[in-house]
Amino acid sequence: MCGIVGYIGDKSAGGVILQGLKRLEYRGYDSCGIACINRGLVVKKDVGEIDEIEARLGLSRLEGSPGIGHTRWATHGGVTKENAHPHLDCSGEIAVVHNGIISNHEELRAKLEARGHSFASGTDTEVIPHLIEEYYDSSLEEAVRRALAEVEGTYAVLVISAREPDKIIAARRESPLVVGVGDGEMFVASDIFSFLRHTRRALPLDDGEYAVVTRDGVVVKDLASGEVRQKKEMVVEWSDEEARKEGYPHFMLKEIHEQPRTVASALKIYREDVRKLAEMIASAERVYLAGAGTSLHAAMVAEYWFSKLAGKVVIAIDSSELRNKGVLDEGTLVVGITQSGETYDTLAALRYAKQQGASTAAIVNVIGSTATRIVEHVLMQGSGIEIAVCATKTYTSQLTLLLRTAIELARLQEKEVEPLEEELRSLPAKLEKVLALEQEIRRVAEEQFDVSNYLFIGKGINYPTALEAALKLKEISYLHAEGMSSGLLKHGTISLIDENMHTVAFVPARGENRKRIVSNIQEVKAREGRIIAVASGSPVASDACLLVPECSEEFSPIVFAPVFQLLAYYVALKLGRNVDKPRALAKSVTVE
Ligand code: G6P
Repeated sequence: MCGIVGYIGDKSAGGVILQGLKRLEYRGYDSCGIACINRGLVVKKDVGEIDEIEARLGLSRLEGSPGIGHTRWATHGGVTKENAHPHLDCSGEIAVVHNGIISNHEELRAKLEARGHSFASGTDTEVIPHLIEEYYDSSLEEAVRRALAEVEGTYAVLVISAREPDKIIAARRESPLVVGVGDGEMFVASDIFSFLRHTRRALPLDDGEYAVVTRDGVVVKDLASGEVRQKKEMVVEWSDEEARKEGYPHFMLKEIHEQPRTVASALKIYREDVRKLAEMIASAERVYLAGAGTSLHAAMVAEYWFSKLAGKVVIAIDSSELRNKGVLDEGTLVVGITQSGETYDTLAALRYAKQQGASTAAIVNVIGSTATRIVEHVLMQGSGIEIAVCATKTYTSQLTLLLRTAIELARLQEKEVEPLEEELRSLPAKLEKVLALEQEIRRVAEEQFDVSNYLFIGKGINYPTALEAALKLKEISYLHAEGMSSGLLKHGTISLIDENMHTVAFVPARGENRKRIVSNIQEVKAREGRIIAVASGSPVASDACLLVPECSEEFSPIVFAPVFQLLAYYVALKLGRNVDKPRALAKSVTVE
């Protein structure tokens, strides 16, 4: 999984591409490189974060155009300078950057080596420039088409050649690629965000398409037939400002604080769009909500809403397991929950579901992303760009949309929904109140999180809250954390409770589940475990209690979210972690 950027125009490509790569760092950041045509082909690449490499090699000083660049998150081949992109052919005239995985690379490499090609890296990607070299007669475009016809797997590729310095060839299969249309200059990148400061006009490519990008325009064609495809340009509304930190030390903190606003935006998404999803759910025999990571946790919370508010069984499923466990046919609806709209496993689940005759829909944040183009109905989150690898504001906005969909389904069944709608409207104000607790949360993070193991427990609809809270802490602090339903504690895990294992419990304001979790807290106390409680309405006996405004149990997963997000943030900060870019993780996982 990686990020790629290309530029053609009057500016020096190095500087423009470096800027674009910085914005794609969320897709990977273990090595990077740029190739530009300045009479001949010039390449600079190395291992490390983009800023370090820039300081060492001066990538931004690369002159000429066109140019292509890459930021890498290693899949095939270790993190070495040789394996960093761009990769070249034997003649050193053709340069390629690639995001994806070539599944038949071993076979292709053997064939090419037998024909005398010599390889400089251990990557799957390097077969592409050598294959292009094989077919390169007078047309780079034709050579790329013929080469890609032999390639199996997934790719977004950009190709330049010193022999045809007037173009970039870009192609995609199952990895994102968007062309940015400027005035006398053109961009092409893994996402719109990387060229947003230059142009708001974008043209996303679809699977099986390639583009011939010149400084004055772009022609999109079908990879198989070579026929021209008519594409519609879109204009992106997101401001470049949205991407800045706005005075916060980290994007994660900024994004946590945006939640009253992003939840308010989710409340403003057109009711017709929400109703359409509710209608699809109503008419399906079975419904899966498929997601990964945080998006899966949002789906798990929604399971409770659909059954409790609308009497409908929907199943939250890890998208990488849909194929193994799902019953998929014409009566099935699969709803992909995916912030980026690019997570490989979720896209694969949606594609597989379609093949089996199922209907598909998705809740997505990123405009123009692949998921938005492969499903029948899309609900856009409208949360704005999320930069920190760790998902925060997009989680509460996914939850808000899922809750609205469940309420809409209840309305279709003529159930009374006005009290729920009223509580929905109060959410942004409640979240403001939760965020006002920041200094108290910080103190608890600094004083109480002094061991290396944590249990997060919740009951009912806050069982997934416990899972998500544990994930947040793990992701950015690298401390061990486990989330579970508090009822399960006594079936094994309670034996771990000691002075090196603290417990964080989520306690709703009222009802049976409050009583139950309070008695689970007692079980931990009886074994001398430390309890940090996050409670709604009134405090509970504990070593530290963070008290959030009173809300109904149904709404508590949204109200509790900023608390555990801030806890994770301040624990990671105390430990000196790279909060926005935790090791080994990427924001958008576009490999299986
Ligand atoms: C990665 C990210 C997670 C995210 C998950 C699903 O693992 O690190 O934060 O929740 O992918 O991403 P999606 O874009 O599909 O919601």
